Amino acid sequence: MIEAMDIVKTFRSGKKKVPVLSRVSFALEKGQTLTIAGKSGSGKTTLLNCLGGLEKPDSGRIRCFGVDVTALSGKSQALFQREKVGFVFQYGNLLSYLTVSENISFPLVLNRFSSRKKEMRIKGLLEELELTGLSRAMPHELSGGQAQRVAFARAIAHVPALLLADEPTASLDTATGRNLIRLMVRMGRENGVTIIASTHDNEIIRHSDRTIWLTDGKITG
Ligand SMILES: Nc1ncnc2c1ncn2[C@@H]1O[C@H](COP(=O)(O)OP(=O)(O)OP(=O)(O)O)[C@@H](O)[C@H]1O
Ligand SMILES: [Mg+2]
Repeated sequence: MIEAMDIVKTFRSGKKKVPVLSRVSFALEKGQTLTIAGKSGSGKTTLLNCLGGLEKPDSGRIRCFGVDVTALSGKSQALFQREKVGFVFQYGNLLSYLTVSENISFPLVLNRFSSRKKEMRIKGLLEELELTGLSRAMPHELSGGQAQRVAFARAIAHVPALLLADEPTASLDTATGRNLIRLMVRMGRENGVTIIASTHDNEIIRHSDRTIWLTDGKITG
């Protein structure tokens, strides 16, 4: 189960304090899918970053599968992120000096998958995400949509317990986006992965168990 309780986050801009999340609370059962919707600047990315421990809320608690994410630091935080979480960042974040295959294998190496398992997993993901033929390409040789799919493959490669996806279909055409959503939903069902995705994509909203709407950092629906 994932529980966010009264999450407050404020950024400083010069001397001004900018409230970004105001007492955000929700609970989600293992294996459920939650969509975070809301206008640009409403706090979606910040909330996802807090959930994965990339950002610390000013106050409030986040518990993921019994772990208090807000209290993690150092090695325990790194282990939690490496084993339990898959991140799809809003802006690609592929490692520019690694090929497509090497990028996807990154979490598999960290989580000590055998070479055989690694190869099979990469091959399967490349096929499912229509990236076959690009395994040796470098990130700068990819289109935006291809890079987004590689980032998605990397996030789900080790089958994380929690997938945090920040607008995962934003640079994809409708058909490719649907394909990715199908894969995400299927992976969630088959492996009991809890999925939290921010999006403007109605197709993702339709496929999720719940949607929360953020307006200026507050849940408004
Ligand atoms: N590191 C930061 N320092 C200062 N302000 C920030 C920082 N990160 C985000 N903000 C501010 O917090 C607010 C929420 O940003 P966030 O990225 O969470 O929005 P978002 O809902 O993901 O928007 P988008 O749909 O455009 O991706 C914005 O007003 C943004 O300017
Ligand atoms: Mg964002």
